[in-house]
Amino acid sequence: MSDPRPIGVFDSGLGGLSVLREIGARLPQESMLYVADSGFAPYGEKSQDFIRERSLKIAHFLLEQGAKALVLACNTATAAAAATLRERWPDVPLIAMEPAVKPAAAATRGGVVGVLATTGTLASARFAALLDNFAHDVKVVTRPGVGLVEFVERGDFDSPALRTLLHSHLQPLLDDGADVVVLGCTHYVFLREQVEAIVGPSVAVIDTGGAVAAHLQRRLLSADLLAPATQVAAPLRVWTSGDPQQTAQSIASLLGSTPAIETLPDAL
Ligand code: DGL
Repeated sequence: MSDPRPIGVFDSGLGGLSVLREIGARLPQESMLYVADSGFAPYGEKSQDFIRERSLKIAHFLLEQGAKALVLACNTATAAAAATLRERWPDVPLIAMEPAVKPAAAATRGGVVGVLATTGTLASARFAALLDNFAHDVKVVTRPGVGLVEFVERGDFDSPALRTLLHSHLQPLLDDGADVVVLGCTHYVFLREQVEAIVGPSVAVIDTGGAVAAHLQRRLLSADLLAPATQVAAPLRVWTSGDPQQTAQSIASLLGSTPAIETLPDAL
């Protein structure tokens, strides 16, 4: 059994494309739909209710477009909305994501893990539970990456202003002795090179995009929902609540491709 329908992926903006890229590499035969809620980004400083509301609307939209499964490619929205979405659509596979605390705890040699994530993620009950479950034997130091999402949304990955801001977020983690830094927001994955340049080769930088793609593959396999092995994926469809032209430019530099960008319906 197989299922040719597309996978729906969404995020507060363009960060989730870092997850979509991993899914495309692992499951090249799968067609994908992507919603960038850039008109409402960043989610990091918004209320949980607001994010839940947006996530419900976007998930509904993607299911209406024929998605067979959903990937919530946003740590912040996972913390606020994953449980609600699962309750609302119990039969739809929903892959959500959270900062890579578990692998980081296993990887640290010095016993200190740094987590760079949004304010919303770090303040969430879900993150507290993650620390309870997986960070008993290590010290976890956190830093809200305030302002970074806006740079990625603008397509600015390497300006002096970005590097200065990144430095100001990473230095406190290094000062606390972190030898592993978790990129706990999908937008930050696009800043990996700059992060690595700042923290240096003795600090490992990790994220969960690859693990999410692997998890999605297992879920689709067990639900008999993988696309036929011979399927040629349809061109990526992208909707945004932000500026379509800016979105097109940023996607071209992030993915090196130029999909047509559609505007999310006003009702959303
Ligand atoms: N990309 C998102 C995440 O993974 C949210 C960024 C934001 O909108 O603040 O947390």
